[in-house]
Amino acid sequence: MAVQLGTAAGLTGEDLETLHIAAHLHDIGKIGIPDAILSKTGKLTESEMKIVQTHPVLGSTILRSSPTLVNVARLVLHHHERWDGGGYPSGLAGTAIPLGSRIVAICDAIDAMLTDRPYRKGMCWEQCAEEVLRGCNRQFEARLARLVIENPLRRVFWEYYQTIALFTEPIICFSNFGKKLPHLPPD
Ligand SMILES: [Fe+2]
Repeated sequence: MAVQLGTAAGLTGEDLETLHIAAHLHDIGKIGIPDAILSKTGKLTESEMKIVQTHPVLGSTILRSSPTLVNVARLVLHHHERWDGGGYPSGLAGTAIPLGSRIVAICDAIDAMLTDRPYRKGMCWEQCAEEVLRGCNRQFEARLARLVIENPLRRVFWEYYQTIALFTEPIICFSNFGKKLPHLPPD
C-alpha cells in the first residue's frame, strides 16, 4: 500500500525501496513496549500513552544499528508526526516531515481504520475516506490524501484489504473468519 502511494507521489528507485522497508518495519519499536499496554482494550492512561509514544525512537535506534538502514530509521523515527506539527516525537510540520514518513503515516492510519480492533469494528471504505479527507492539512498532507481517495489508488487499497480479509486473517485469527468486508468504494 505504501509503495503504491509512494509511486503515485513520485518516489522511485532507492527512495521507494527505503519506503518499502520502512513501511514493513515502522512499528518495530513496539518490541520494547510492555504487552500489557499494547494489548490493553480500554483507554490508555497518560503515562501509558507516553510509553507507547516512545516506539518511533526505539524503532529508529534499533534500525540505526545497521549502517544500511540509516535512511529507513529516519522514516521510522518520524512516522507519527502530523502535517500540522502536532505529532511526535519531534513535532515536525509540513514538508519538514520526510515524505516517506508522511506516506507511512497515512497508510498506517488507513490500516487502523479499516481493520477490527479489540475496542471497535473496522470502518467501511466510505467512512475511512471521509476520515482521511477530514484529516487533510491537520493529520495528513492534502496531496497524499487526495491520491489515496482518487482512482485508481482507492481501488488498489480496497482490493488489498479484501485480500487480507479473505486469506490472511482467517489464517492468523480464526475468530475473524467470515468478517464483513469493507464496501466496494464508489467509482
Ligand atoms: Fe507506530
